[in-house]
Amino acid sequence: MITYSSLLNDDKLSYIRMMTNTKFMLYTSKIAGLGSYVPENIVTNDELSKRMDTNDKWITERTGIKERRHIKDRAEGETPVASMGVKAAKIALERAQIDKNDIDLIVFATLSPDYYFPGSGVIVQDLLDIKTVPALDIRNQCSGFVYGLSVADQFIKTGMYKNVLLIGSENHSGGLDMTTRGRGVSVLFGDGAGAAVLTRSKDPQKGILSTHLHSQGKHALELSLKGPSTNHWVPEIIAENPQEDIPYYPYMNGQFVFKNAIRRFSEVIEEGLSANKLSKEDIDLFIPHQANLRIAEYIQKKFALSDDQVYNNIQKYGNTTAASIPIALTEAWERDKVHEGDHVVLAAFGSGFTWASAVIRW
Ligand code: UT7
Repeated sequence: MITYSSLLNDDKLSYIRMMTNTKFMLYTSKIAGLGSYVPENIVTNDELSKRMDTNDKWITERTGIKERRHIKDRAEGETPVASMGVKAAKIALERAQIDKNDIDLIVFATLSPDYYFPGSGVIVQDLLDIKTVPALDIRNQCSGFVYGLSVADQFIKTGMYKNVLLIGSENHSGGLDMTTRGRGVSVLFGDGAGAAVLTRSKDPQKGILSTHLHSQGKHALELSLKGPSTNHWVPEIIAENPQEDIPYYPYMNGQFVFKNAIRRFSEVIEEGLSANKLSKEDIDLFIPHQANLRIAEYIQKKFALSDDQVYNNIQKYGNTTAASIPIALTEAWERDKVHEGDHVVLAAFGSGFTWASAVIRW
C-alpha cells in the first residue's frame, strides 16, 4: 500500500498541492518523443477512379488529397490498428529515450478498434510486452489524439503518472464503401498511426500549456457509423434495410460538417490562445487535424499564418482521424519545423461532434 510517508519528497509536495486544491502545479507534461507509421500500400486518386465514379480533379479540388495509404495483405490474426500503433510507439519510445517498462499508462485513441471489445490499448500493452499498466481507450474520433493528450497531461500534472504512451491509430480501409455509393466518404480516409511519449517536466514554462475540449452530441449522427452496434446488430440491419442501403458504412453530411468544422476550429484555437495570454502572432507552428486542405487553408487565412507556420500532409495520407495530428506532428518534427521554445498549436474537429485544441511550448 502507498502511504504518505512512503512518497518521495517531490511526490509529497505534489500530493499536498493536489489535496489542498491550490492552483499550484508541481509538474507539467511535455512530449519527449514522437513516432509514426503508415502502411506501404499507396492508393492514388486515379486508382480509386477505377473502382468508383470519382476522379483526381474532384478529389484534389475539394479536399487537397492526392493519395492515401491502405493496409494490404494482412497477416492471419494480425490486429492492424494495435500493430500500427506499436510500430509508431517504438519509434516514439526510442526518441524519448524512455524504456517501455517505465511507461505508467497507455492511452489509445481510435474510431476503428481491432475488436468491438476489448479496446486496442490492451493489445498494445501485450504486443509491447509492457507490464500490467492501465490501458485507456479514447473514443473521440478526429479529436481523439488531442483528447488523449489532455488525459495524459492531467495524469502527469497531478503527479499520479510520470510517463504516458499516447497513440492514435486507424484502419479505415477495412470499413469503407469502395463503390460509387460511398464515394463522398471513402475517398477521404486513409490508414496510419502516430504516437507520442509524454513525460513529467519540472519546467513550468515548457510543455503542454493547456488543452480545451468540447462536444455537441446533438449532431452525433451527422458523421457516424450507426452499426453494427448494440443499437444496430447485423441481423437487424439486414432485416430492416434494402441491400443497397446498409448503414454499416460511415455516413457524413459533408457540407454541414465542413461549416461546423471551420467555426469550431476557430473558436477552440482562440480559446487556447486566450487561456495562455497569447496572440495569433505567437503561433510558431499550427497543426490542424487533417480533414480537408480547404478547412486548413481557411483557418490559416483567418489567423493570418504563413505557409511556414502551418503543417499539412493530407495530400499524402488523406484523413487518418485520430492518427492525423500525431503523424503530422511527427513529420513536422522530423523536418526540423519544431524548435525549443516554439508555441505549437494543435486543433481538431470531428464526429460527435467533438473538437479540441492544445497549446504547447516546446
Ligand atoms: O474529419 C472529420 C471532419 N471532416 C470534415 O471536416 C469534412 C467536411 N466536409 C468536407 O470536407 C466536404 O464536404 C467533402 C469533401 C466531404 C465534400 O465536398 P463538397 O464540396 O461539400 O461536395 P458535396 O458533398 O456537396 O458534393 C458535391 C457533388 C455531389 O454531386 P451533385 O449532387 O452536385 O451532382 C456529389 O455527389 O460532388 C459529388 N461527389 C463526388 N464526385 C466525384 C461526392 N463525392 C464525390 C467523389 N467524386 N468522390
